[in-house]
Amino acid sequence: MMPDSNSLFTGEAQPSIETLAEGVTLLRAFCREEAPALLDAIATVVADSRFRNMVVPSGHTMSVAMTNCGDLGWITDRTGYRYTAHDPLTGKPWPPMPAPLLHLAQRAAATAAFPRFTPNACLINRYAPGTRLSLHQDKNEQDYTHPIVSVSLGLPATFLLGTLRRTDTPRRIRIEHGDTLVWGGPARLIYHGVAPIAASTHPLTGPFRINLTFRRVATKLS
Ligand code: SIN
Ligand code: FE2
Repeated sequence: MMPDSNSLFTGEAQPSIETLAEGVTLLRAFCREEAPALLDAIATVVADSRFRNMVVPSGHTMSVAMTNCGDLGWITDRTGYRYTAHDPLTGKPWPPMPAPLLHLAQRAAATAAFPRFTPNACLINRYAPGTRLSLHQDKNEQDYTHPIVSVSLGLPATFLLGTLRRTDTPRRIRIEHGDTLVWGGPARLIYHGVAPIAASTHPLTGPFRINLTFRRVATKLS
C-alpha cells in the first residue's frame, strides 16, 4: 500500500497492519481508497435485496439493518439463525457478491496470513446512530477453518474485541472508515460486538456506518 500523502493534511490514519491478538489482525485504512467503488457495489446489492431489521428467536427486532450478497446469506427469524440461498423478502437468490467486494476480502485475508479465503457469504450491516450489536460469536458457518473479514465504511465505531470466553471484558477498539479487521485460526470463535454508534455524518455514507463481514459457509456436496 502507498502511504496516503493526503492523510498528512486531513488527520486520517496512515495504513498500518497491527496484530491485536493471536489470529486477529487490524488493517488500518486498508480499503479507504476504494471505498467509493465499494459503496457503489453495495448500492447495487441493496437495490435488489434491501436493508431490513430482522427478528431474533426471542422476538426482539435487531437495531442494525441487514442484507446479504453471495451464494448464501445470514438470516434470523423466530425459528432461529441460519444461512439461506434465497432472500426471504424477495424469494430470489441473494444478489451475487460484486467482484470488488470479493477481491477486497481475499486481499485482506491474504495480508492477514489467510491466503486461501474464498468467501461465499457477505453480510452487510447498516448502523444508524444509537444502534449496536451485542457480544456474539459467528458460529452458524459449520466450518471454522476460514477467517472472518470485517470491512468498515462510513461512521466510526467502537468494536468490542472479546476472547473465546463470553465473561471476559472485551477490549474497545476504535474502527474508522476503511479499516478492515480479520480474525481466524485460534481466534475464529471470539466473542465480538459493536458499541452504540455516536451521532455524526460521514461524507460518503451520511448518517450510517456500513460493515461487511465475509464468511465461508460450509455447503453440502450434492
Ligand atoms: C458482525 O459481527 O457481524 C459485525 C461487526 C461489525 O459491525 O464491526
Ligand atoms: Fe459477528
